[in-house]
Amino acid sequence: MRANLSDRLLQHYVDKCRALPWRSPPGSPPPDSYRVWLSEVMLQQTTVAAVTPRFERFLARWPTVEALAAALDEDVLAEWAGLGYYARARNLIACAREVAARGGFPTTEAGLRALPGIGDYTAAAIAAIAFGAHAVVIDANVERVTCRLFALAAPTRGDLRAAVASITPAERAGDFAQAMMDLGATICRPRAPLCDSCPLRDDCRAFASGNPERFPAPKAK
Ligand code: ADE
Repeated sequence: MRANLSDRLLQHYVDKCRALPWRSPPGSPPPDSYRVWLSEVMLQQTTVAAVTPRFERFLARWPTVEALAAALDEDVLAEWAGLGYYARARNLIACAREVAARGGFPTTEAGLRALPGIGDYTAAAIAAIAFGAHAVVIDANVERVTCRLFALAAPTRGDLRAAVASITPAERAGDFAQAMMDLGATICRPRAPLCDSCPLRDDCRAFASGNPERFPAPKAK
């Protein structure tokens, strides 16, 4: 059943994925690692809708990591205005310089995590999306979808990671991660999920429970 689950989600992604400027079409060669990194850093605390136009503008101004590495700090910080969290922009510059100096992005999660501004999520996302690594990618949307699939009310980090790992396919982990993100953003929404449109409804223990919104339980403040 589980193998089937990732196949069905990937097929749904082929049919319905959001065409976002940092993605390449499902199943095609991955986008350039600079684009993936830049988009993932921009998306760390900013919505897809807010990032989309800014991503294109940024990329037009600095089309490669080498170009960004050579930019003046003040120009990058000015271009970042409105995206918030200036520490991200400062890390972005530091990271671009390290990557340009070493001749490209590292291709493993551990190598990526050693760079400024790249934590567990971002390292896994870049490794999977840009380099096809079998990485376990967990953002807020992936977390909610997974909690519902497995009817997990309050999983530990380890439980959640094991659950996501158990459904992540060996191939196309980047498409799979982005398919989970899209499912969470469009169908498996926090409130009023659209279960009738969900390709994973028959696998979903929260749906079977009759009240999918109960999963995950609200986090204690
Ligand atoms: N949020 C973070 N990374 C994303 C991606 N690659 N696609 C859509 N939403 C995202």
